Amino acid sequence: MFKTIEWTDAGVRMIDQRRLPREEVYVTCRTYQEVADAIREMVIRGAPAIGVAAAMGVALGVRDASANNLAALRDQFEQIAATIAKTRPTAVNLFWAIERMRRAFNQSTENLSRSESTEPESVVIARVRARLIEEAQHMLVEDIAINQAMGRHGAALLQDGSTVLTHCNAGALATGGYGTALGVIRAAVEQGKQLQVFADETRPFLQGARLTAWELAKDRIPVTLITDNMAGHFLHQGKIQAVIVGADRIAANGDVANKIGTYAVAVLAHENGVPFYVAAPLSTIDLSMATGDDIPIEERSPEEVKRWGGVSIAPENVAARHPAFDITPHRYITALITERGVIRPPYNETIPAVFQK
Ligand code: MRU
Repeated sequence: MFKTIEWTDAGVRMIDQRRLPREEVYVTCRTYQEVADAIREMVIRGAPAIGVAAAMGVALGVRDASANNLAALRDQFEQIAATIAKTRPTAVNLFWAIERMRRAFNQSTENLSRSESTEPESVVIARVRARLIEEAQHMLVEDIAINQAMGRHGAALLQDGSTVLTHCNAGALATGGYGTALGVIRAAVEQGKQLQVFADETRPFLQGARLTAWELAKDRIPVTLITDNMAGHFLHQGKIQAVIVGADRIAANGDVANKIGTYAVAVLAHENGVPFYVAAPLSTIDLSMATGDDIPIEERSPEEVKRWGGVSIAPENVAARHPAFDITPHRYITALITERGVIRPPYNETIPAVFQK
């Protein structure tokens, strides 16, 4: 099994997702700036994987920071965090991960702020560095366990013998491992259910064609690739019994930001009476956003729409747009699958309740 991301002494090692499925190559980011570039340029992508990458980027930056006193290290932490925070705006896991690293930093300096502390600053700095590396590595292990828990809760929703449609890649490649939406599919298959997966190719970045099809085929889970505009046809024909996708950010009312095209699939599923599930960890839920309208949508380069693999597929002088995500209103979502269980509408009640569990 490939590793999406791992911490090494040389730096943060990732499978280069831009080059899949043609080549399985790994890159090592040796500085936090290289980690930031890797997130921006989609070497690594998918909300939970971006979160782990952000945490490891912060740990790497702080490990190699020049500061020799705690105040300077704190300043450098904030500068590293700001650089990583500027990479991609939609997946809240990125900001959640940075905040968690900030908490780890503060916790490891707590006894220094007590006036009786006589600890030399160099000792505290070493402790901060070690703690941040440990926290980032822990977040990777924790993410896989969370996905497996989501899989256990969600697998019951998928019937033996059914065909499940997914959009984008919410698999092992999009997370520390196992996957969110694909984790639920994996768990159902591990329980002995026979499932077929239909994967939307997911224009313009082709995460479905290049990544979902690749990782499911590697796992020998039957997968059929379709172009995005075929989803309605197969839903209408009754060929699909459930839709399951991941999420980049979920608002307090249950509205979901996910890969561009998700909204259309949700409406089509609703129209055809097919359940539409979203699998996401609690770290993807942003209670500070009242509705999906508040969620920032990343606008990427139109060149990603006009070209593929360096080949022009549109007139050079034509305008193009590339919103990378859209919002699916909560009324189209049959259930949210989290690591603490499956929750159903009314989401403005069930979402806060799941955090209390
Ligand atoms: O632009 P990407 O590839 O980072 O977008 C990824 C998605 O939209 C995924 O569906 C989402 O992050 C969930 S991944 C478990």
